[in-house]
Amino acid sequence: MSYQPIVKPPAASMPFGPNLVDYDQARADLGWTDFAAEINGLPGGGLNISYEALDRHLATPIKNKVAIFWEGQDETSETYTFAELARLTDRLAGALRALGVTKGDRVFTYMGRTPELYIALLAVPKAGGIIGPLFAAFGPDAVKDRLLDSQAKVLFTTPTLMKNIRPIIPELPDLKTIVIVNRRGKPYEFGDREKAFDQIMADGSDDFEIEPTDAEDFCIMHYTSGTTGKPKGVVHAHQAVVGHHATARHVLDLHPEDVYWCTADPGWVTGTSYGIFGPLAGGITQVVYEGGFSASRWYKVIDKYRVTAWYTAPTAIRMLMKAGEEVVQKYDLSSLRYMCSVGEPLNPEAIVWGQKAFGLPFHDNWWQTETGCIQIANYPIMDIRPGSMGRPFPGVTAAILNETFERELPPGEEGHLALKPPWPSMFRTYWGRQDLYDSRFVNGWYITGDKARMDEDGYFWFVGRADDVINTAGHLVGPFEVESALVEHPAVAEAGVIGVPDDLAMELVKAFVSLKDGYEPSDQLKKDIRIFAKKKLHALSCPREIEFLPGLPKTRSGKIMRRLLKARELGLPEGDTSTLEE
Ligand code: PRX
Repeated sequence: MSYQPIVKPPAASMPFGPNLVDYDQARADLGWTDFAAEINGLPGGGLNISYEALDRHLATPIKNKVAIFWEGQDETSETYTFAELARLTDRLAGALRALGVTKGDRVFTYMGRTPELYIALLAVPKAGGIIGPLFAAFGPDAVKDRLLDSQAKVLFTTPTLMKNIRPIIPELPDLKTIVIVNRRGKPYEFGDREKAFDQIMADGSDDFEIEPTDAEDFCIMHYTSGTTGKPKGVVHAHQAVVGHHATARHVLDLHPEDVYWCTADPGWVTGTSYGIFGPLAGGITQVVYEGGFSASRWYKVIDKYRVTAWYTAPTAIRMLMKAGEEVVQKYDLSSLRYMCSVGEPLNPEAIVWGQKAFGLPFHDNWWQTETGCIQIANYPIMDIRPGSMGRPFPGVTAAILNETFERELPPGEEGHLALKPPWPSMFRTYWGRQDLYDSRFVNGWYITGDKARMDEDGYFWFVGRADDVINTAGHLVGPFEVESALVEHPAVAEAGVIGVPDDLAMELVKAFVSLKDGYEPSDQLKKDIRIFAKKKLHALSCPREIEFLPGLPKTRSGKIMRRLLKARELGLPEGDTSTLEE
């Protein structure tokens, strides 16, 4: 089925008037140096991402504007102005310094979306540290791997999640302090290295001088999955804020009048670039909702806070579609004026449904943890071709390269999506894996690992991943990581993990498992293996389906052939099987 383009009205007739008035002109005239000029820099020289997000507004009327409307899962709410956040983060940054945090130290968070999470993530860069936000849905081994790899010095967590941390403490010699956020006042017995968040805040002072960081100093780390090995820490520098700010302004189209809501958790790069730094650097009021997905609860949030600009993801949109338009009609969503989506291909049906249900289309955009900010996008001013990720951001050069990355392919041909480095929010390294980082740059291009094509008018269309990485509900899952977790189970001899298509989550994780002698396939054993894997992985990375096979197809060198497993699962041609073990 083909979809008609969604033709946009002229800029002048749009509510607010878009920030990007003329795409072609902006591409011709604007570059990163122009966007960098919108950032202040520290008064004494240097650049600090949290100063740009908070303190730079203190000399302007934004000072007393609401920075965060926090909505608890239990419907309690709290409001923080820019001035309050600046003061609270000063206090916490001072406390961190007193705890020995110095420039370059890694400070991780492992907790839900409460205000303390945001205060911590904004305070750490002020003290010169590097933040590492982890999803509360991680099992203990996933947390341990990341804390060990990054040699994190401080961790913020909650009494409930401490049950996952306690058993791994002996294996984390670098972890000097655990800060306990106990906002619901649970009875809690503090261990040796533990401090109460409330206590260190009470003992702290409002007097704090931000660490004089440089634009190139590191400040954010997000772990991401590849085809092989453990997840890698993608590292960003303070300068990333230039990209966060420019794209929040020109792609998300954030205006001073907006109330903006990004549904992503800071454990995912979207939740930091666009759930913290981008909007705050622009002086925009945003909503943070503590809870997870629920169609009616989400609409209630939009209704209650009169949300105008909304950034979410395809799986969530498809779940909203499933919940139906009747739910939409129970709420007053008339405040909405602009909607964006990221993380997976946004199917045209979802865009069309958005138009029907909200009277507005979703604007798809494309980027990666490594790119730090949006690279390819649909803009308010530009017609939408449903199914396309849009066109490169002004300042971004994107191309489709041939198999050997030597040649740019003409419009219409499928190939490797590549970007021309550098740009301000480009990752600066994979933590401790400079070799791997270097391997991502070939012939003067950054190779994204995605396959795509470009049409005659410069719109990019996503084709698929160039590797075996699985995208389930926007969450990247490295098959190797899941296979490694599975083979640690006493009954599992071998495991091969693939993504299988799913209407809601795009792909689901499926594992093929062969058992060791003496074990028999059973439903109970499948359940056992899933519970076992859950302790080691993020909930979304756990196989939804496990299938027992007597043996797995392997190459002669012993590598499990995921490609073959996938072809067999989907009933596709098996392709070249010349390397298959006899
Ligand atoms: O494969 C692409 C897919 O998600 C990958 C990046 O994942 P992650 O680093 O977790 O993303 C962080 C911020 C979005 C990409 O390599 N992806 C992302 N956006 C899109 C997408 N696939 C299709 N369409 C998109 N708009």
